[in-house]
Amino acid sequence: MEANGAKPVSGGRVAIADASDLAVQICHLNYYFGQGELRKQALFDISLDFPRGQIAIITGPSGSGKTTFLSLIGALRTLHEGSLKVMGRELVGMSNNQLVEVRRGIGFIFQAHNLFESLTASQNVEMAVELMGGFGSKRAQAIAS
Ligand SMILES: Nc1ncnc2c1ncn2[C@@H]1O[C@H](COP(=O)(O)OP(=O)(O)OP(=O)(O)O)[C@@H](O)[C@H]1O
Ligand SMILES: [Mg+2]
Repeated sequence: MEANGAKPVSGGRVAIADASDLAVQICHLNYYFGQGELRKQALFDISLDFPRGQIAIITGPSGSGKTTFLSLIGALRTLHEGSLKVMGRELVGMSNNQLVEVRRGIGFIFQAHNLFESLTASQNVEMAVELMGGFGSKRAQAIAS
C-alpha cells in the first residue's frame, strides 16, 4: 500500500502445504480510484496470503490504503488488476451479482458505522438479519435462549 508518502506494505508469504488452507490469497493486486487524468493508484502490487483461522492486524498511516484493501477482500468493490481469492473464489472479474453472493459469507464491521439514523440500534441489526431471510425464526430463537 502506498499513499501520502507512506511506504508500500510488502505482503507476507506463509509456507502453506495446500492452497485450500488459505482464507485469502492475493497476487499482484493493484487498485485505482477515479478515471482518466483523475485516476489515482491507492494499492500497489500487493501479494499476501491469509491462512484460515489466522488473526491478522493491518497497520499503516492514515491514507495508506487499509480501508481500501479490506473493502476489496470484503467484495465491496470491483477489482481492477491482479488476483484476489477469498475462500478459493477469484473476485477479479466477478460480476456485481457474484460479488453480492460472496459478500453474504463475509462479516464486516465498518470504520464509519453505516447505520441508519432513523432506526434504533436493534432495528439496524434486525434489518440485516431480515435481508438474509429466516428473520422470524431467528428472533424467536434469540428470545427463547
Ligand atoms: N472513495 C474514494 N475516492 C477517491 N479516493 C479515495 C476514496 N477512498 C479512499 N481514497 C484514497 O485512497 C487512499 C487510501 O485511503 P484509505 O481510506 O484506504 O486509507 P486508510 O489507510 O484506511 O486511512 P485511515 O487510517 O485514515 O482510515 C487515500 O489517498 C484516499 O484519499
Ligand atoms: Mg481507513
